[in-house]
Amino acid sequence: MLNWDNPLTPATKAPAAANSTVEAATGKPADKLASAFSAYATSDALNEPAVAPTAAAPAQATVASESGPAISAADLFSEPANFAQTSTPAAPVAPIAREAMDNMETEQMGVTGKIMTSFNANDKRVINGQGDVNQLAPFKYPWAWEYFLNANKNHWTPLDINMAQDVQDYNHTLTDAEKHVYENVLAYLTTSDILAMRNIGLAVMEKMTAPELQIYQARQVYEEALHTWTYQHCIETLGLDQAEIYNRYRVVPEINQKIQVANRRLEDVMRSDMDLTNQDDLNSFVMSYMFFSGIFEGSWFYNGFTPIFSLQRRGLMKGTSEQLQYIMRDEVMHASFGIRVVKQILIENDVRLDPQEIRKMWDESEAAEASYARYILRDPILGYNAEDHIEQFRFIANRRARQLGLEEPFPGAQSRTPWLDEQANMKKEKNFFETRVTEYQTGGALKWD
Ligand SMILES: [Fe+2]
Ligand SMILES: [Fe+2]
Repeated sequence: MLNWDNPLTPATKAPAAANSTVEAATGKPADKLASAFSAYATSDALNEPAVAPTAAAPAQATVASESGPAISAADLFSEPANFAQTSTPAAPVAPIAREAMDNMETEQMGVTGKIMTSFNANDKRVINGQGDVNQLAPFKYPWAWEYFLNANKNHWTPLDINMAQDVQDYNHTLTDAEKHVYENVLAYLTTSDILAMRNIGLAVMEKMTAPELQIYQARQVYEEALHTWTYQHCIETLGLDQAEIYNRYRVVPEINQKIQVANRRLEDVMRSDMDLTNQDDLNSFVMSYMFFSGIFEGSWFYNGFTPIFSLQRRGLMKGTSEQLQYIMRDEVMHASFGIRVVKQILIENDVRLDPQEIRKMWDESEAAEASYARYILRDPILGYNAEDHIEQFRFIANRRARQLGLEEPFPGAQSRTPWLDEQANMKKEKNFFETRVTEYQTGGALKWD
């Protein structure tokens, strides 16, 4: 019998003895209801065999309830519905109540009719799908599930990493220019990761219509929160002024500009009235998601840790850098997943992107990154300067464009930090930089890019 509270529990066939109870309560022929239950129970929609009633089963049709004792089918159709009661005496049904029950039954039968058919993975779409969003398998996008499994191989908390040497470095070794870099990178990242969490959790995820995509994004939301915890942990450990660091994006124009660009390009997606069956809204959503995965996460974040990694390469702030390496690996997966989702949307939908808008997106992002780089690196630090940062952004942006199937926006850009990709591979770096000996991955090897 179908559990209306939770249709995904195994179905059982209603025993014949239930008929009188059902009829008494609903005034409807019990065989109609029973046939619906039976049809459901014998369907292969859930790949679960129908569970035959056992000798120990109560004579009355019952439905398991998580929050209380079993309830009768009559309870389900009583008016008002009271799922907490264990038994409801059969009572005469007034005409108005019976009409309401007729409607209710029609609705329930409609639901039953939907899930009685086998679920076809081809019904799934990234957006605007008509498939059952509560049924994970069969997968339409098995790669999304793989992302989820891989993401769970990359787990840490900021408390796992020893920050003692960072306190010493910050207070006694870093130059003023290096402190300026360190603090402002943190100031940018703190705001950016909250923005990323909100965008995925509140805007993008709700528009997905395949659960395997949403499950990875749910993990991503958690990871963005973990990243924010990491920055907060660094700030607290070093004894920095929290309010002042978090407020910098408001008062430093070069940081503010990047956040403003992101807010403007992502805010459009946050609109509650967005309708992805509308061509303009669809185009706008894809542009926003493209910006988010290809630039915000794929380029700005990917390149955003580099100034601190340059300190790490000189043996400074190794605890913070190890934290950022963990974050970077998450971000690589976020960007890669987002790009894959965007490409799938392009395959499944008639999206009309304006090449001039795409060009504008790259130029705007480059200008914001350049301005930011010239602020955080206004005084170059040993081994790294603003031009390195800007050129590296162009180089990474080209890579993301290729992954998105777009033309390279900055042809000829050269990598200024060839060691950056290695930073994404913790196994190589952990021994080189002699940080805490730990296995970052708990599972198999990951592929990047
Ligand atoms: Fe993040
Ligand atoms: Fe992210």
